[in-house]
Amino acid sequence: MSEAQLAEARTTKTPVAGWYGLEPEDDAQIEDPYPLFKALRETQPVNLTPEGGWRMTRYDDIQQLLRRSRSGMRLTNGRIPGQTDDIPGAGIFMLMQDPPTHTRLRKLVKKAFTPRAIEAWRPRIEKITDELLDQVAGQGEMDLITDLARPVPATLICELLGVPSEDQGDFTQWTADATHGLLTLRGLGDEAMQKRVEVASISLLGYFNDLITKRRLDPGDDLLSVLISAEEDGDKLDPLELLSQSIGLLIAGFETTIGLIGNGLTTLIRHPEELEKLRASPDLAPSTVEECLRYSGPILATIRILHEPAVFGDFELPTDAEVVAFLAAGNRDPEAFEDPERFDIARYASGRDTAPHLSFGGGVHFCLGAHLARLESEIAIRRIVERFDQMTLVNETTEWGRSLFRVPGRIPITFREVN
Ligand code: HEM
Repeated sequence: MSEAQLAEARTTKTPVAGWYGLEPEDDAQIEDPYPLFKALRETQPVNLTPEGGWRMTRYDDIQQLLRRSRSGMRLTNGRIPGQTDDIPGAGIFMLMQDPPTHTRLRKLVKKAFTPRAIEAWRPRIEKITDELLDQVAGQGEMDLITDLARPVPATLICELLGVPSEDQGDFTQWTADATHGLLTLRGLGDEAMQKRVEVASISLLGYFNDLITKRRLDPGDDLLSVLISAEEDGDKLDPLELLSQSIGLLIAGFETTIGLIGNGLTTLIRHPEELEKLRASPDLAPSTVEECLRYSGPILATIRILHEPAVFGDFELPTDAEVVAFLAAGNRDPEAFEDPERFDIARYASGRDTAPHLSFGGGVHFCLGAHLARLESEIAIRRIVERFDQMTLVNETTEWGRSLFRVPGRIPITFREVN
């Protein structure tokens, strides 16, 4: 914001710090955070917390923060708030960087994530999904997480990176644990979590080091080989950057996709009329995935740090203010979405005009894996709905996993195989 714009927008209101009904670590947040988000959006949409951070819940404010404000992932002095230096290489992942370093890293990694490169994986994802469904088809019961939502992204990311199938078990466990590094890097999380992150990070580092050495000697057409050879104007990723981006991609892409498939299917089963609509019109699968992302996405929030003062709602936020943007709250803002509490799988069908959801973030850090996440989820959701009907949740409430994100640990269902 320029000085003139700021002067014009400046208000004299002083924020009253509070949690306004949405306490951190509140268990209700995971099962059904939406009533809490609604209350916060209605009472204190731009909110100063007792800990000195800021939170946002309105769609327009979040879009302004992510896409139009001068902000980043680091303080203006270049540091990550609360950063401890325990995890080697962790702060080098692009999501922790500001331009120009971020721009440079993203440009190099982007080469492996073009829509065309991702679309080429479609037949393989279909095959993986069908084989998984074959294994449970005759049983009439399955766990949506163990039997589908986890092995689809796990198998795929391992194949994308060229990880041999016998290592996939260890590899996926380390990835799940290392995901919490996004918290511990900021000095958060208890001792047991910090220990798990440390062990997992060291194991992943060692594993990737060996894998990268092998790929350098014998390149293939996997993503790691693409990253090793990615070059832009004579620039390449150095070894630590390569290692950090590879591990970061895993962490960013694994649990999140499990969450999208798991939450998406749970939501569909809870809305049988929408499920039947999808069965009748499989072309609605891409729109269904977008609506699942809007309605019950796996990542509730992202973070930005202001690099200059900016006015949001009634308040002027200072330089270096740390702001949590509740993407999931913006996704249900009635100012942006018609009937936002309604789960409507045709909301994003072609020809309909609706605001994009916020679940992949926005601006320069917009999720780089969005095409891949959409493709995996579209295929998994479409295929299970085509092949199984009478899907019923065994438990009414979801059993949540030990994840940083909103990811179920188990979703037992019963079903009938469609003949
Ligand atoms: C449903 C699945 C996924 C969701 C909901 C999701 C969501 C997000 C969000 C919210 C961000 C932060 C954006 C911001 O702060 O503006 C992000 C960043 C990122 N995601 Fe995803 N993601 C998903 C899957 C994936 C996958 C499959 C990959 C790759 C394998 C991936 C790679 C990344 C990367 C590299 C970034 C950092 C981008 C940057 O800093 O420029 N994500 N994602």
